[in-house]
Amino acid sequence: MYSSAFLLAVLSHTVSGLPGERHGLAKRDSTLIPTSCFDSTSSLTQYFNYNYPWGDTHNGAAIMKDSNSVIADAGVLTLNATYTGASDYAYDSGTVYAKQQFTVEAGGGLDFSAQFIAPVETGTWPAFWLNGVNSWPPEIDVAEWKGSGDISFNTFNSSSEVQAQDVKYPSPTDYHTVLAELRDEDGSNVSVNFYLDGTLITTQYASGLVGQPLNLIIDLQMEGSSGSPGPTGTTLFQIKNLEVIDKNA
Ligand SMILES: *[C@@H]1O[C@H](CO)[C@@H](O)[C@H](O)[C@H]1NC(C)=O
Ligand SMILES: *[C@@H]1O[C@H](CO)[C@@H](O)[C@H](O)[C@H]1NC(C)=O
Ligand SMILES: *[C@@H]1O[C@H](CO)[C@@H](O)[C@H](O)[C@H]1NC(C)=O
Repeated sequence: MYSSAFLLAVLSHTVSGLPGERHGLAKRDSTLIPTSCFDSTSSLTQYFNYNYPWGDTHNGAAIMKDSNSVIADAGVLTLNATYTGASDYAYDSGTVYAKQQFTVEAGGGLDFSAQFIAPVETGTWPAFWLNGVNSWPPEIDVAEWKGSGDISFNTFNSSSEVQAQDVKYPSPTDYHTVLAELRDEDGSNVSVNFYLDGTLITTQYASGLVGQPLNLIIDLQMEGSSGSPGPTGTTLFQIKNLEVIDKNA
């Protein structure tokens, strides 16, 4: 007790001596996943595992294979869904999830951002989303495209208590930027500001999310919620400049 009080006194003295720092309460953002994460296959596998946290399938017609998540150009992750016509899963596709788990701590927050070229055709279901480690829900769809030409931003409190905002997805063959800011609202609920290309689209609230660990998943699922039949060729989902910033410090 005595020694830690002493240490605190020394630290706050040191911090208050730095120009531009707030007395003793300096908050620093830290980068949990840097924008260089897709610079090479080794940086991809430093930060991400292949497939879903629970396996290689999820509510759709694609089975995930490691070989369908590739760094073809430095800086860009490409997920490739290819029609095989197999009777159980008609597509081979790619999914990765972050090796780290992410938690909004009391008084804190997290920022998730990336740029995407996302397919919007019927039967194509790319997504960039957060899923509860210990239970479902929680789920936050930072960005999801369900084969309708729209992008969807969603927060699930339960399977029936869902906030969902769909907006037209402009020029899908160009990159667009998505950002979700998660913040502790009241010690229990979390607010989520969803941005598309720098414009705030919607603010949603996740019940009791403070302190609950989340998995970050990037997948190219097919058919399922995006309708059918899906395309019989190859579909690509491309992601660059992904960044996760810790606002919990
Ligand atoms: C997608 O995967 C298919 C099947 O493996 C392959 O033939 C094709 O070259 C890939 N396309 C790209 C752009 O990666
Ligand atoms: C969480 O939000 C609900 C609904 O707005 C509210 O009733 C509840 O009091 C909030 N929790 C806290 C800890 O403020
Ligand atoms: C989910 O819970 C939050 C916090 O309690 C609440 O503000 C929000 O309205 C709920 N969502 C729905 C769709 O009821």
